Amino acid sequence: MTKILLKLLGLSFAIATLWSCSNPNENRSSNNQINDKVDSVLALMRLEEKIGQLNQYSLGSEFTGPGNKKGQDSIRYQQLISGQVGSVLNLLGAEDTRKMQKLVVENTRLGIPLLFAYDVIHGYQTMFPVPLAESASWNLDLMQKTAQAAAAEAAASGLHWTFAPMIDVTVDARWGRVMEGAGEDPYLQSEIAKARINGFQGEDLAHNKTIAATAKHFAGYGYAESGKDYNSVNVNQYILHNHILPPFKAASEVNVASFMNAFNDINAVPATANQYLLQDILREKWSYDGVVVSDWNSIGELVNHAVSPDLKDAAKKAITAGSEIDMEGTAYVQYLSQLVKDGEIEESVIDNAVKHVLKLKFQLGLFDDPYKYSDVEREKEIVGNSQHHALAEEIAKESIVLLKNEDHLLPLKSFKNIAVIGPLAKDKDTPLGNWRAQAIQNSAVSLYEGLENALPQSTKLTYAEGVKLSIGPNNFFQEQVINQDDRSGFEEAKRTAKNADIVIMALGETAYMSGEGRSRADIDLPGLQKELLKEIHAINPNIVLVLMNGRPLELRWEDENIPAIVETWHLGQRAGTAIAETLLGDNNPSGKLTMSFPRHLGQLPIYYNHKVTGRPSTAPGQVFYSHYTDVGNSPLYPFGYGLSYSTFEYGEIELSKNTLKEEENITVSINVKNTSDRDGQEVVQLYIQDLVAEETPMIKSLKAFQKVQIKAGESVKVEFSINKDMLSYYKSNGDLSLEKGAFRVFIGENASVENYKEFELK
Ligand code: NOJ
Repeated sequence: MTKILLKLLGLSFAIATLWSCSNPNENRSSNNQINDKVDSVLALMRLEEKIGQLNQYSLGSEFTGPGNKKGQDSIRYQQLISGQVGSVLNLLGAEDTRKMQKLVVENTRLGIPLLFAYDVIHGYQTMFPVPLAESASWNLDLMQKTAQAAAAEAAASGLHWTFAPMIDVTVDARWGRVMEGAGEDPYLQSEIAKARINGFQGEDLAHNKTIAATAKHFAGYGYAESGKDYNSVNVNQYILHNHILPPFKAASEVNVASFMNAFNDINAVPATANQYLLQDILREKWSYDGVVVSDWNSIGELVNHAVSPDLKDAAKKAITAGSEIDMEGTAYVQYLSQLVKDGEIEESVIDNAVKHVLKLKFQLGLFDDPYKYSDVEREKEIVGNSQHHALAEEIAKESIVLLKNEDHLLPLKSFKNIAVIGPLAKDKDTPLGNWRAQAIQNSAVSLYEGLENALPQSTKLTYAEGVKLSIGPNNFFQEQVINQDDRSGFEEAKRTAKNADIVIMALGETAYMSGEGRSRADIDLPGLQKELLKEIHAINPNIVLVLMNGRPLELRWEDENIPAIVETWHLGQRAGTAIAETLLGDNNPSGKLTMSFPRHLGQLPIYYNHKVTGRPSTAPGQVFYSHYTDVGNSPLYPFGYGLSYSTFEYGEIELSKNTLKEEENITVSINVKNTSDRDGQEVVQLYIQDLVAEETPMIKSLKAFQKVQIKAGESVKVEFSINKDMLSYYKSNGDLSLEKGAFRVFIGENASVENYKEFELK
């Protein structure tokens, strides 16, 4: 603050009066106060400086998108010191951010601090499970805590802003980015969005352990046609309003600091230039007052989308629609000024965008102290600390989903000789997953290490890789690939399996097989892994299949032949410890899927909350109804599915009454009994079906859930309250509709639950 005032000399009086009410210890300035301060700064700015606030560059060594900034260094340097850059991504570390901040604050005319942004997706250095895995915990409190820990680490490294959470509803496992979100259900996605945003942002953005969050990608990116990244999105208005938009609305309601637009076009209009999404919905309907950042050069890509003949037109379309910061695109810094001078856009459009950027800088406390996040000592103390590692283990344990457990093969009992086979068994890198920020390569606890630490000395543990893992051609990320044609490890693996009482096979996808730009046309076990699994199975069928992957896989053969299957995703820093404790029974699995696993690739996209259709019959011998002739309609493992070492029995659903009026509630309850001799946790799920509606309803939709702990042999009564919000839906015109008539409430252990009671809205 003082430096800025000194620099401004003649101008300092106006700013001093308005800024001085912020002091570092009292950061809860009201919105109005902040708006006044923003106006005071804006009044001092020249057009080029305003446009600079809307320009964002990737300046670190990491480059998270295509392009080539070679030869740009001196231009960018000049722009930085002349106030033509407002924010930076991919530059991090307390020392480097401090240097860059100093350069800008001390050399630009107004000394407006930069914002430092980064993709902190599932941890900064301490890696938590990938978001899809975490969502399988259904534990909102823990997800809030991991976001909070990630924020603390990032903030100590000089960062102010994360491009997370990704809250795209995802229904097609071919799309690589399903690993970044919370799956297919809009309600669950909304609840998790709120938890993560609250975790990142805390109660006060100016606190030095919180960072601004981003709701992305607005909107529809998760519906990329054929699951191919960046592809067009063609969805009807019903899907848009009922599936895609609710998590974004929820994010705006908890004041997420920013929205990021999406690469895709949606119903023929690119999201980046989409007035309907950015103006009509976001600003008008939801009154959102934060900043909107473009995705990486998504403004420039309007030219590729063929809606703009050149970058100048792209800049005009994007700013007019409401894309406020141009990420790594240079369209704004090159053309906005000319567009204003030519009268093609009003300066007030720029002003509004700049206000949002300045507001965020004030909220973060950067005008009080531009260096407050760049503290080398704090960085050392906080980044990767042991509490964060312990939290990573805690959530990893809850994120594991037990898919199959024939004859209670798990937990492992008195086995003397255990074989561990597979390319991922000793791999310390895969569990870190994609979008791993500053994770230390090869730093996860491997499955083998986890078992070695947990098993008694008397147990013999043997190992064979079976299929080789190697560094692939894309060595920017040091990507590992799974071998496609080298069977030289098979014989050793088979010998190892033959001599064992039980075989643990660690198979799946390496870290970078999911994530951005990693769509797959086949979602089988990649490379030679399935062949290896079959050959081992022929020798010793006593197999526990431990899967590590970032998306739902096609597992029909595995489900038919392998007695125990454990989905461990990319589980983060302490993966091996969490998996070993689960296999050995010290942890009782409680995770439930948040995306359906198909029986067959051809079922994609597959999701539980689909429409009834005009031909829903499943009667045997029928031909003319909605089905495949070669595979069933149901998924292999439905949404909400996951086993436990405990067994649970659901009682009858009880309703406090059978009818309700608009402003009334119905209390609905159910007894859930733990019928086993092990304490366990169960995610009790409530779904509603609207029996008749003006627009074709979904077959059922999740409306509430509770994760409850139930002691061995005991019962708990779980209660929910049904209200009008749970009974309404969005019509295709975007209006919320509450229609009288009959509804069903289902309560059970996953989306295929058939246990229901009917009631009526009068
Ligand atoms: C492109 C991705 O789509 C987006 O999610 C990410 O935040 C940016 N690149 C920045 O890395």
